[in-house]
Amino acid sequence: MSLGTLGATERGVAPARSIRGSLRVPGDKSISHRAALFNALGRGNSQITNFSPGADCGSTLSCLRSLGVTIERSADRVSVDGVGLRRFQEPPDVLDCGNSGTTMRLLSGVLAGSSVFAVLTGDSSLRRRPMARVAEPLRRAGAQIDGRDGGRLPPLAIAPVPTLHGVEHRLNVASAQVKSALVLAGLFADGDTTVVEPAATRDHTERLLRAMGANVAHDRLTITVQPGPELHCVDVQVPGDFSSAAFWLVLGVLHPSAEVRIQNVGLNPTRTGLLTILQQMGAHVELENERDVAGEPVADLVAWSSQLHGTTVGGDLVPLAIDEISLVALLGLCADSETVVTDAAELRAKESDRLAVVARGLSALGGDVTATSDGWRIRPSRLRSGRVDSEGDHRMAMLFALAATIGDGAEIAGADSVAISYPSFWADLERVAKS
Ligand code: S3P
Repeated sequence: MSLGTLGATERGVAPARSIRGSLRVPGDKSISHRAALFNALGRGNSQITNFSPGADCGSTLSCLRSLGVTIERSADRVSVDGVGLRRFQEPPDVLDCGNSGTTMRLLSGVLAGSSVFAVLTGDSSLRRRPMARVAEPLRRAGAQIDGRDGGRLPPLAIAPVPTLHGVEHRLNVASAQVKSALVLAGLFADGDTTVVEPAATRDHTERLLRAMGANVAHDRLTITVQPGPELHCVDVQVPGDFSSAAFWLVLGVLHPSAEVRIQNVGLNPTRTGLLTILQQMGAHVELENERDVAGEPVADLVAWSSQLHGTTVGGDLVPLAIDEISLVALLGLCADSETVVTDAAELRAKESDRLAVVARGLSALGGDVTATSDGWRIRPSRLRSGRVDSEGDHRMAMLFALAATIGDGAEIAGADSVAISYPSFWADLERVAKS
């Protein structure tokens, strides 16, 4: 298969005759952010291996450096010298979170209790994303945090306060970023902080903070954090990112002549809703070599060409597949009957309005996908070639690349956006897609 670069960010993707090969995906983005940020708050040194090469985690590192944290990076290894709680230096300039919602929201929670003045901004996509969901509960805990539109939009400005208070937060949105921001703020509070989620979301924050000595209790949807002990730095071996592996799983399942293996993938059960959906649809996917790495379950995944059935996806399954749900639209186009996704309105608040961008892009390639208020209605369709726009959203660029590879090719605008989470995506696609 040949991939021609059509312009700065436009890329041609040809259909593939078969999909074959074995891949290693980048280190998990969510765990990499947390490993760097939490260890910066600890005492000692941390060696983080297989750190995500994505630009998002680079944003977290550069913000931490501006806060006075010594960080060295070579290949996929990052060394963080922890400064301890409340020991950040006041940053000399605005902190640029780039495209990364995780950087902005988790840092907001930490900075709320850190006794420095800081302003957080980001690129045009991040500056459109909702921040009231973190700013309002942080204010209820005593934080001084403001932003554009009454604190609803970035930039956010956070000013020092004498202390934060222990508060009970009942969240009305299932968001690991919001949960994490509030749990982190709880480390700086004068009493216990409780966060109650409406549905389970990824729990990397709870796992890593506990490993670092924090008093974090987790009982189903309730997380309680007690302020107190200094955190001790821990080394972290970051597993491969399930959200990146998901693209190869789906490509393997959808292409009529495919066998693809993805090695060393993190399988934290709060991340693997897509495996449940694939099983519901009758996909042939297997786990091999299951093991535990640094407190997170890991395995190799293998996917084969499969005949898929239409399905319905909604409810508590959605947060467990929040970054993979867009792939269900493509799976549905190749199934034997209609697929319906509901309860996914949160996708409108991601790097792009994914409900709209998926429907627009897959429709441009011949797919019968209709966006609803909280999901899509997807009918089996034959894909044809066309031009699609990722609208700067990394996961949309990769989704459309799969549609082009199993269908009739496409020109994809905004192809460079893959650098946010998966810089080697195009090279890996060339390796597995055989012409
Ligand atoms: C993330 C949580 C999710 C996810 C994002 C990473 C995290 O966002 O979509 O890619 O690392 O906590 P929300 O918390 O906004 O759902």
